[in-house]
Amino acid sequence: MTITVLGIETSCDETAAAVVRANGNSKPEILSNIVRSQWEAHAPFAGVVPEIAARAHVDVLDTIIADAMKEAGVAYDDLDAVAATAGPGLIGGLIVGLVTGKALACAIRKPLIAINHLEGHALTARLVSGTVFPYVLLLVSGGHTQILLVEDVGRYRRLGTTIDDALGEAFDKVAKLLGLGFPGGPAVERAAMRGDPKRFDLPRPLLKRERPDFSLAGLKTAARNAAESCEPLSEQDVADICAGFQAAVTDVVESRMRRALALLEEEHVRPTAIVAAGGVAANMAIRESLEDLAKGTGLMLVLPPQALCSDNAAMIAWAGIERFRRGDIGDPDAPARPRWPLDDRAEPVLGSGKAGAKA
Ligand code: KG4
Ligand code: ZN
Repeated sequence: MTITVLGIETSCDETAAAVVRANGNSKPEILSNIVRSQWEAHAPFAGVVPEIAARAHVDVLDTIIADAMKEAGVAYDDLDAVAATAGPGLIGGLIVGLVTGKALACAIRKPLIAINHLEGHALTARLVSGTVFPYVLLLVSGGHTQILLVEDVGRYRRLGTTIDDALGEAFDKVAKLLGLGFPGGPAVERAAMRGDPKRFDLPRPLLKRERPDFSLAGLKTAARNAAESCEPLSEQDVADICAGFQAAVTDVVESRMRRALALLEEEHVRPTAIVAAGGVAANMAIRESLEDLAKGTGLMLVLPPQALCSDNAAMIAWAGIERFRRGDIGDPDAPARPRWPLDDRAEPVLGSGKAGAKA
């Protein structure tokens, strides 16, 4: 059976629409995948401004949907459903995308499927590689840092989370304090290539903790102290701090992933693969350390291409297909949910309050 779904994503600072088609057991096709980033509008503020984001989504979403449909060569009648991100994220943007999706679905008399943005990230590995459940997901973006066991569509177990900053947020803050601009991750990675990771001895927080949780605030402060210790900063100082920060982050990620895998082994749960998603998963140092980890443990590693790691609507359309083919299209009146954890059973971790931020 062929299923064709239009996906809409507006939870943070990317306006995106995509059409994805699944045909029985053959590899699904991304017929179009349009992402319009708003980063230029937010760059002067070195972070996402919710009101600017919501207005920008209103300005461009209808054109982007029309372009995605045209590029896919699909008529509205050919769609089986419309899938729109309903949360978590910034409430203004979520309402723009969800209400547009609802209106469109109503007009073409097709179901509207409200998607959890994090579920989109979590299921991307199945879109690109057909990864079989269960698998371990490292989800690292500007708003989220989690290690999850993806057990099935709709069944996610959070193994670890951050007690303070998200990983991408930490990269962005370090970039800001070093004057490297926004978004900070790619700028820090570029500068780190010319730097000496050993010059500054930055901490690797929480390496001994039983649960695979993260804490990045201390590392960020250590990077600030390093910067202050060598004011005025030369280009080499900046490169060395970036290299030291990236090396510390990479060690922390590797240690947290090892801990998560060890916990699963204790429970005799054997995942099929290690998967990474979210904008920070584009970082080459982190990718390489995950490759080593996968090799060492004999697990398959799935690193979706960068365009599908960062925010996009193909992952939302795909999550819609996964739900549609299970007959689980949910509530057509679903509200926008700024906070929407994937694992409702997970207990809040002291200091964490990230679920409503960008994902
Ligand atoms: O998933 P994403 O595109 O958007 C949301 O957060 O929703 O992730 C963006 C985050 C930003 O914090 C950005 O600085 C970070 O991912 N990022 C990176 C890299 N590319 C993007 N962090 C480290 N290294 C990179 N190459
Ligand atoms: Zn995201």
